[in-house]
Amino acid sequence: MSDYTVKTLPDVELTDHLRSILDRLDASTADIETCVTLPREVYTSEAWFEFEKRAVWDPEWVCLGHIGQIPEVGDYFSITINDDPLLVLRDETGEVRVMTAVCQHRGHILGEHAGNTKIFTCPHHGWSYDLSGTLIGAPQMQAHASLEELRQTSCLPTLRSDIWNGFVFINMDGKAPPLNSRLERLTEEIANHHLGDMGATPTCDFSGYPWNWKSMQENAVEPHHTWFVHKGPHDFAPSRLATFVEWDEDDDGAVYHPTGFLYRDGGFTAGFQSLFPIIETLTDNERQRVMFASIMPNLFIGTVPDGCLYYMILPDGANSLTLRVGYLFPHSTLALDNFDVTFKAVVDGIVIYNDQDTEANTAVHKGLRSRFANRGRYAPLEGTLPQINRWLVKRYKAYAAQLDAGSS
Ligand code: FES
Ligand SMILES: [Fe+2]
Repeated sequence: MSDYTVKTLPDVELTDHLRSILDRLDASTADIETCVTLPREVYTSEAWFEFEKRAVWDPEWVCLGHIGQIPEVGDYFSITINDDPLLVLRDETGEVRVMTAVCQHRGHILGEHAGNTKIFTCPHHGWSYDLSGTLIGAPQMQAHASLEELRQTSCLPTLRSDIWNGFVFINMDGKAPPLNSRLERLTEEIANHHLGDMGATPTCDFSGYPWNWKSMQENAVEPHHTWFVHKGPHDFAPSRLATFVEWDEDDDGAVYHPTGFLYRDGGFTAGFQSLFPIIETLTDNERQRVMFASIMPNLFIGTVPDGCLYYMILPDGANSLTLRVGYLFPHSTLALDNFDVTFKAVVDGIVIYNDQDTEANTAVHKGLRSRFANRGRYAPLEGTLPQINRWLVKRYKAYAAQLDAGSS
C-alpha cells in the first residue's frame, strides 16, 4: 500500500458538560447483574458527539464497505464518514485505495454514488485526478501555476486502510493497532462463511433516521427485544436460543452473539427459510443459527446460512444517522438466473424487521431526550450491551486522559 495521509481533528476542550458525563460512566461498565445504561447525554449531546469523533472515530478502524462492491480496476463507491466524503476504489495496480472525495481546488465533491472510471473530473471547474489521486488536469490555470506546481499541494490524499473479511476500513489518526489482531475470535467464529471471497449487491442508503449511532448497534446486537418488537417473525430464532461470550479486553474489536434457529437453514424471510443455496462450507451448527456482530464503531453484520447482511452506520450528528445496507453472497449465488427475483423476496423479509426496529429506535431516542430518561438495569439477554459500554468507555477515558495530560 502506498503512503497515506494522517489528518486528525483539533482537540475539544474538556468542558464542565463533558466532565459531568465522564464522571458518571463507571456505573455502565460493571458486571451485567448491576450495570446500568450510559447517561442519556452520551446519546443526545452534540458536544459529546464532537468528543466522540476524537475519542472513537479518529483513533479506530471505521468501515466503509466491502471489496465485493469494487471487483474491477476503476470501480469505486462514495461514502461520507462524519464530515469527510470519501472515495473507495480499485486502483490501477488492483489494490483497494481510499481517498478524499474533496476536490483540492475549491472543495466540490468528486464521484457519484458508485461507478467505474479511470479519471475523476470535478464538475465545478474541470480539475481531474487519476486513480492514485494524482492531479492530471487543471484547465485555465497555466497563467498562475503549472500542473507540476499544483501537484505539490493539490493531489487527493490517500488514507490509511485495511481489510478484514473483505470489509474495507480506514483509520484516520494512523495509530490504531492492526485491525485483524482485535477480531480474532469473531474471525474464527465466521470463518466458514468466507466473507472475503463473496460478491456484494449494490448498497442502499436510508437517511434521516432520528436516533444515535450507538443505539443502532445496541438494538441490532441485543436479542432481548426480539421477543417483544419482532414477536411473530423472529420466533424461528427465539431469544432464548441466544448465547453470549465473555468479554476479552485483548480481542475487543467486536461485540457479538449467535442466536440459534428452531430448525436448519432458517432465514429472515417471509417463509422463515433461507431462499438461496446454503453456503457449502458451513457446519450443521452454523446452518442453524445467525451470528450477529457489531464491529465497533460502525459495522454490523448478520451471517445467515445463505449469505450475510451488513449495516454501516453513518452518523449525521448525535441525533441522526444514515444507514447503508448491503448483502454479501457467494459468486455462484449472485450468478443464479433467478437471483434478482429471489433477492427481492430476501429484501422484503428484512424490511419487516427493519420497520419494527425503526419504530423502536425512534421511540427510544425520543425517550432519551427527555429529562426523565433513567439509567436502567440490564436483563440477562442484554449481555452484549455492557460489552459495548466497556468498549466505548475505555476509549472515552483514554481520550479524556490524553486531553488532561496535554493541558497539565
Ligand atoms: S472545485 Fe473542483 S475544479 Fe474547482
Ligand atoms: Fe431488531
